[in-house]
Amino acid sequence: MACIWDTHSLHFGLLFGILLSFSVTTNGLKLWPMPKSVNYGSKPLYWSTNMQLRTDGSNYADSSGILKEAFERVVNLIKADHIIEAKFANSSVLAGVNVVVHSSDDTLNFGIDESYTLNVPAKGSPLYAKIEASTIFGALHALETFSQLCYFNFTSKVVELHAAPWTIYDLPRFPYRGLLIDTSRHYLPVPVIKSVIDSMTYSKLNVLHWHIVDDQSFPIEIPSYPKLWDGAYSYTERYTINDAIDIVKYAERKGVNVLAEIDVPGHTLSWGVGYSSLWPSKSCREPLDVSNEFSFKVIDGILSDFSKVFKFKFVHLGGDEVNTSCWTTTPRIKEWLNNHHMNESDGYRYFVLRAQQIALSHGYDIINWEETFNNFGDKLSPRTVVHNWLGGGVAQKVVADGLRCIVSNQDKWYLDH
Ligand SMILES: *[C@@H]1O[C@H](CO)[C@@H](O)[C@H](O)[C@H]1NC(C)=O
Ligand SMILES: *[C@@H]1O[C@H](CO)[C@@H](O)[C@H](O)[C@H]1NC(C)=O
Ligand SMILES: *[C@@H]1O[C@H](CO)[C@@H](O)[C@H](O)[C@H]1NC(C)=O
Ligand SMILES: *[C@@H]1O[C@H](CO)[C@@H](O)[C@H](O)[C@H]1NC(C)=O
Repeated sequence: MACIWDTHSLHFGLLFGILLSFSVTTNGLKLWPMPKSVNYGSKPLYWSTNMQLRTDGSNYADSSGILKEAFERVVNLIKADHIIEAKFANSSVLAGVNVVVHSSDDTLNFGIDESYTLNVPAKGSPLYAKIEASTIFGALHALETFSQLCYFNFTSKVVELHAAPWTIYDLPRFPYRGLLIDTSRHYLPVPVIKSVIDSMTYSKLNVLHWHIVDDQSFPIEIPSYPKLWDGAYSYTERYTINDAIDIVKYAERKGVNVLAEIDVPGHTLSWGVGYSSLWPSKSCREPLDVSNEFSFKVIDGILSDFSKVFKFKFVHLGGDEVNTSCWTTTPRIKEWLNNHHMNESDGYRYFVLRAQQIALSHGYDIINWEETFNNFGDKLSPRTVVHNWLGGGVAQKVVADGLRCIVSNQDKWYLDH
C-alpha cells in the first residue's frame, strides 16, 4: 500500500532540527533516514586529497552528467573548501567511490527502484568505496548516505570515515516521500525553490508537492489562459512556464518528482482576477461557478499545459474546504442546480468528478484531499490517491476501499502546528 507523509511547511529549517535529533537517538548512528540494514567495523579511513569517481562495471553512461554532478556536490559538501592534508599510510587512504548502476535509463518515474548497497571496505590498495544500485536514483541516495559517514576533522585536517568496513543496504519503505510548498499564500523565488529541492535530497525525499495557486494569488503562467496570472500578488511575483520547466528538470536530476496542484473548486478566488466569469458573482467569488462550462474549459487548458511540463504520474486536484454557499445565493447558479436536480453537495461531487475526468484525459492519475473521499469516496475514480490532512483513521478506510493514500495529518505533519 502506497501511503506516506508529506510535510507541509514554509519553515524549512525546522524540519532539519527535528530530523537530526531523531537520528542521534535511534541507535547512535548519525544516519538519516536510518537505512534498512547497517553493519560496520572499527577501522578509521582518511580521504585522499583528490577523491575519485569511478564507474567500473556500470551500465550507466551518465551522458546527462547526473552522477558526476551528484558526486561533486557530495564531495564539496563534506570538504566545504577546507584544505585536506596528505599524511597517512596508503593502507588507510580512501581513494574514491566506484558507482555501479545496472540500468542505463535515467527517466524518473513513480515507483522506480531506489534501493542501493554501499560497501566501504577496510582493506584494499587502492581503497574504493563501492555503490551498487539498479537505477541512478538509488545511487544518488547511496552517495547521500556515504556523505553522512564522512566529516572534516579540524585536528587531523583530513576528512575521516570511521568504523570501516561498512555494509549498508537500503530501500525506501514508501514510494512517495513528499514535502509541500505553498507559493500562493507566500511567493517563493525560483532560487529558493531550488534550495528546498537540494535540502530534500539530504533526507531522501522524492516528491516536491507544489501547491502553486490558491485564493490569495495565481503566480504561474498558463499559456492557454494568459490572463490567469493577472491574479499574481504583483508583476514580479510570478513563474513563467519556462521557470516551471526549469524547476522540474532541476528536481529530476536530483531524483525529486514535482507534483503540481490546482485546488478546485474551492481555493480559487485569484482565478477570477483575470477571468471574472469564473466567479459566481463579483461579491461572491469562490468556489468556481459549477454552472459555467467555462470553468471546466479553463481546468482543461491548465491541465493540458501542465501535461507538457509536469511529467509526474499524478496531478493534485485539491477538492478540500469547499463552501458552496455562493452557489445557492447566486440565483443563476441556484436555478442551474435545480434544473439539474442537484443540491449543493451534489454540485460539489459533480464538479470534483468532472475535474477528475479531465485529468484522466490528460494521462494523469489523481490526488484529491480527503474531503472528497469523506463525502463521496465510492464515486471517486479508482485511480485516485486520497490525501489525508484532517483527522486520524482515514488511511485505513481509504485502503479498505481499494484506493491509495498519502498521510500528512495536520496534527503531526504540519511543521507550523
Ligand atoms: C602511496 O600512493 C601513491 C599514489 O598512489 C604512490 O605514488 C606512493 O608510492 C604510495 N606510497 C607507498 C608507501 O606505497
Ligand atoms: C580528530 O583527529 C584527532 C587526531 O588524529 C583524533 O584524536 C580525534 O579523535 C579526531 N576526532 C574525531 C571526532 O574523530
Ligand atoms: C461560506 O461562505 C459564506 C459566503 O462567503 C460565508 O458567509 C460563510 O461564513 C462561509 N461558511 C463557512 C463555514 O466558512
Ligand atoms: C443532496 O441530495 C442527495 C440526493 O441526491 C441526498 O442524499 C443528500 O442528503 C442531499 N444533501 C443535502 C445537504 O441536502
